[in-house]
Amino acid sequence: MSLEVRGLHAGYGRLPVLHGIDLDAADGELVAVIGANGAGKTTLLRALSGLLTATAGTVRLGDADVTGLGPERLARAGLAHVPENRLVFPSLSVDDNLVLGGYTRRRGPAAERSRARDRALALFPRLEPRMRQAAGTLSGGEQQMLAIARGLMAQPRVLVLDEPSVGLAPRLVGEIFSALGRLRDGGLTLVVVEQNARAAFAVADRAYVMDRGRVVLEGEPATLMSDPRVTAGFLGGGFAAEVPAPGPAAPRPSAPGDGGRR
Ligand SMILES: Nc1ncnc2c1ncn2[C@@H]1O[C@H](COP(=O)(O)OP(=O)(O)O)[C@@H](O)[C@H]1O
Ligand SMILES: [Mg+2]
Repeated sequence: MSLEVRGLHAGYGRLPVLHGIDLDAADGELVAVIGANGAGKTTLLRALSGLLTATAGTVRLGDADVTGLGPERLARAGLAHVPENRLVFPSLSVDDNLVLGGYTRRRGPAAERSRARDRALALFPRLEPRMRQAAGTLSGGEQQMLAIARGLMAQPRVLVLDEPSVGLAPRLVGEIFSALGRLRDGGLTLVVVEQNARAAFAVADRAYVMDRGRVVLEGEPATLMSDPRVTAGFLGGGFAAEVPAPGPAAPRPSAPGDGGRR
């Protein structure tokens, strides 16, 4: 299902943060949105998923105008949001986290919930042996996998993800992004917000660059990657600092590990 955003404005109280965002994701497209810390990426996803009310602009999902709908109705319309910091319920089991992910589909056919669950576990087989384990005891990478699997339990047609790479070792970042690529190959539409431009560009079909609440560049990842404004410009530490060193991905002692428990 396609996503079309036009002239979206949103903010907090009287503080405007988004100043007219235009963004498209075609059906089955994986779109990356990159930008430095504070660019407004999280605010954009909150406005898309109805957690924040837009002050102007329109959002369409497929043929439907979904502007102004709340989170539950948007979820039923097909949009799922995987929030930043992989907010799983730490004291609940992996299994119960998945069940809660299917909450908006609770009145739907049980067979569809069960298929969604099988597909999510096939995508992240590491979760399968941990179903009874408290989610808070999973590694950081496993928690991110659970957060995505939980989003998939809502049976979305459009999945938006907020910085899935944060705090993960490069190998896990690769694992997560290749799973997102497989979801796209299966026909899902994805919008991934990232500071880690290189990881996002490796799988994205198209990308947007945000700066201070605006889209400042748009194009194919390969083109953006060689744009001096991307490499040298406003990406702060996000581009240069988080690029893994070329060559074999040997874990460096100083690399952020996967063991970070939240
Ligand atoms: N809950 C909030 N209340 C007020 N201002 C906020 C809130 N969340 C974010 N902001 C402000 O909105 C701007 C964009 O933040 P955010 O969308 O989180 O950026 P990003 O996700 O790109 O790092 C920042 O200036 C930030 O301080
Ligand atoms: Mg953010």
